[in-house]
Amino acid sequence: MKDISQLKEEFLKELKKAKKAEERRKICKKYIEEELSSVFCSIKNLAGEKRTKIGKEANELRRFILEQQKKEKEKRKEGEGWIDVTLPGNDPEMGTIHPLTQLQRRCVDIFSRMGFLAVEGPEMENEWYNFDALNFKEDHPVREMQDTLFVKQKNRESLPAKDKLLMRTQTSPVQVRYMEKRKPPFRIIVPGRVFRNEATDSSHEINFYQLEGLMVGENISVANFKAIINFFFQELFYDDIDFRLRPSFFPFTEPSFEVDISCSICAKKGCSVCKNTGWIEVMGAGMVHPNVLESAKVDSAKFNGFAFGVGLDRFAMIEHKIDDIRLFYGGDLRFLKQF
Ligand code: DAH
Repeated sequence: MKDISQLKEEFLKELKKAKKAEERRKICKKYIEEELSSVFCSIKNLAGEKRTKIGKEANELRRFILEQQKKEKEKRKEGEGWIDVTLPGNDPEMGTIHPLTQLQRRCVDIFSRMGFLAVEGPEMENEWYNFDALNFKEDHPVREMQDTLFVKQKNRESLPAKDKLLMRTQTSPVQVRYMEKRKPPFRIIVPGRVFRNEATDSSHEINFYQLEGLMVGENISVANFKAIINFFFQELFYDDIDFRLRPSFFPFTEPSFEVDISCSICAKKGCSVCKNTGWIEVMGAGMVHPNVLESAKVDSAKFNGFAFGVGLDRFAMIEHKIDDIRLFYGGDLRFLKQF
């Protein structure tokens, strides 16, 4: 068996002589796969101390050669660092803006042209802002478990409403959050995600997007509201959209209305989207209830205003003829890349 230090010398000599990288790589390979492996094979026949000593030396030499091999590889990589500029490039993966974000941005843009400021509020709310401040009575059925996702808390029942947490069911609480810190007049819109404890199907999701609007000042009327949403609908649908108000009920507005737009798909003739009525319900609205203004410390004898809330998912579904709300949240690129 060859002496290990002699083997190392031979290796270095050969390596020095080799002019080409290719040859040097071959030498490293030969010493590891042939010379050293035959050493390792014969080590087993040695006895005790000698076996440990030579084993250790052989391992050191192996590590040394591997090191040389690595250096050779690195040198090769450096040599290959040129770029063929005539080759076609690799297309970077481009993302697309989510259809709901696109719609949200368009809405914010339209309202900001009418002097509305876009503001946000927390997705995890408390009962006071989500319900009490909005004039929901203590025993209102919407507070029950089937609609609201409450946050589990120790001794929840004994906490004050401002400490009882929940996932907001609407963007309306931001009305109060905004008003209580400022003085009227106000013109705001609030885009944001809301949560409901729903069994999901093609038109229900546990979360969806709303756009809230609020205008408060002196002598604001329903006529002002109609003018504002008329502009909004015309701009949003690039079309002569007809709309109508129907009486409705919300605890935080008086009077309250439901807003329908004429069906742009069938031009009021009747189709599956408008359920053959020619109209699609898109918005809840009304004149802000004095109790809500008072909750936000706004003098309801001096100021009044209107508020409204729309579901953005509904709009996007109408606009793009999407028949399942769950597609927005499924993360399927085949769907998302179409926008
Ligand atoms: N928050 C209501 C909902 O989620 C929508 C709504 C209705 C908002 C009337 C308003 C309003 O501001 O005035 O169903």
